[in-house]
Amino acid sequence: MKQEHTPLYDALKRFADEKPVSFHVPGHKNGQVFLDKGNDYFGQILKLDGTELEGLDDLHEPEGVIKEAEELLSALYDSQQSFFLVNGSTVGNLAMVLGTCKAGDTVLVQRNCHKSIMNALELARVKPVFLSPRYNDEWGTAEEVEFTTVQSALDTYVDAKALILTYPTYYGIGEDLTETIHLAHEHGVQVLVDEAHGAHFIAGEPFMKSSLAMGADYVVQSAHKTLPAMTMGSYLHIGQNCRFPHNIKEYLQILQSSSPSYPIMASLDLARSFLGTLTKEDLDYTKSCIEAFKKELSALEGIKLLQPARGSADLLKAVLQSDGTYSGFTLQEELRKEHIYTELADIRNVLLVLPILKAGQDYPFEQMVLACKKAVRRSKTQESIQSGKVIVDEDAKVSTLALTYDEMASRKERSLPFAESAGFIAAETIIPYPPGIPFIIKGERLSESKLKQLQELVEAGTHFHGFKDEAQKKIAVYDKI
Ligand SMILES: Cc1ncc(COP(=O)(O)O)c(C=O)c1O
Repeated sequence: MKQEHTPLYDALKRFADEKPVSFHVPGHKNGQVFLDKGNDYFGQILKLDGTELEGLDDLHEPEGVIKEAEELLSALYDSQQSFFLVNGSTVGNLAMVLGTCKAGDTVLVQRNCHKSIMNALELARVKPVFLSPRYNDEWGTAEEVEFTTVQSALDTYVDAKALILTYPTYYGIGEDLTETIHLAHEHGVQVLVDEAHGAHFIAGEPFMKSSLAMGADYVVQSAHKTLPAMTMGSYLHIGQNCRFPHNIKEYLQILQSSSPSYPIMASLDLARSFLGTLTKEDLDYTKSCIEAFKKELSALEGIKLLQPARGSADLLKAVLQSDGTYSGFTLQEELRKEHIYTELADIRNVLLVLPILKAGQDYPFEQMVLACKKAVRRSKTQESIQSGKVIVDEDAKVSTLALTYDEMASRKERSLPFAESAGFIAAETIIPYPPGIPFIIKGERLSESKLKQLQELVEAGTHFHGFKDEAQKKIAVYDKI
């Protein structure tokens, strides 16, 4: 199939060029009715903001240009079937779990997964078994689950129905999963991979290998994170050799809008074509620009560019670490003053997401290096931080929740100061955001040291999701111990 083709985008453009007269939704009537001040930027895009009209197909029952576009996607990723998603990997993860697991199923889950996976587990009413990842002391981040952890969980939980992994991590780290996937299959366990940060991997060298190529059964990717696609645009793939029964398509229909955004879908079509038509020259050029940029960053004083201790690191990620005299949050703020916006900061690091470039294309890497020099200088004059490890790797390698989701639903909650909560069961999931990885999971019993770390994270200014009483330094717990 020709990856130059962009059937959905072409159909929308043809439609817009015909200057159609709208007596249908949406209310902006192809952009003819719109608040004036919005026209500068919205004007062009509204012409593509179509709906399920003749020739524009229907995402939920595709038979025309959307079907063609999804087939091109599937051909590029060598999948059995691929879907466009208009609500991010979030909806992909929900549909993937709900469409493959039943209530009461035992499901092995990488503990440092995105909150959308956690939400999916609860909605599906499965019995999660959490697999703790390796912790990288230098980076201060969680990495992948070790093979031996998966092996021991598969041996212990012989009734497990699924293994849910995240590959790569938000910071772009991952190890080859081929052996792990093979082992799960030998146990009759299907493998679901949240590859939100790896939609570009299928382009091959210089990128890491995609879990689809390693034999994963279901893979979700945020095209909008690393490919040139609009925010929320994502893909879900069914692996070429997947033989497990599932009803993912039905769940996508339940969970996604009945009026999906055509600009997002068209951008997915264009992003797939962008990826599918990258030449070796483009990839070599991207690699050399990024390597030169990283070299310049690593030569700066007062900052370190992290390298992976093991496994592979995504070329498109750069992790800058403070020399311990200032926090990642401070550096991020100082960069912002130079109009440089980064992906995330944590106590020690600032994460950059870099672009895939066509040969010869410019990108303001030099501006970033200069800004970084200034920002580091200013950051170092600010209040010092403790450079010690904040998130301690103390979770058991394999753990379960203290209550089922049904039991949690029937219990009363209350809010307790951190210092009084040890031994209680958490009634909220607390997620430092970004990167959106749960630190405390609803249903887990709270230990003193975990609560002490939580206090440190709060004091360091971490931004959280799902933390109801952060300001009062209180945590929601279930009433009975
Ligand atoms: C690992 C991981 N999975 C899933 C998601 C959700 O992706 P989306 O923003 O496309 O819904 C994110 C978002 O940051 C993520 O980091």
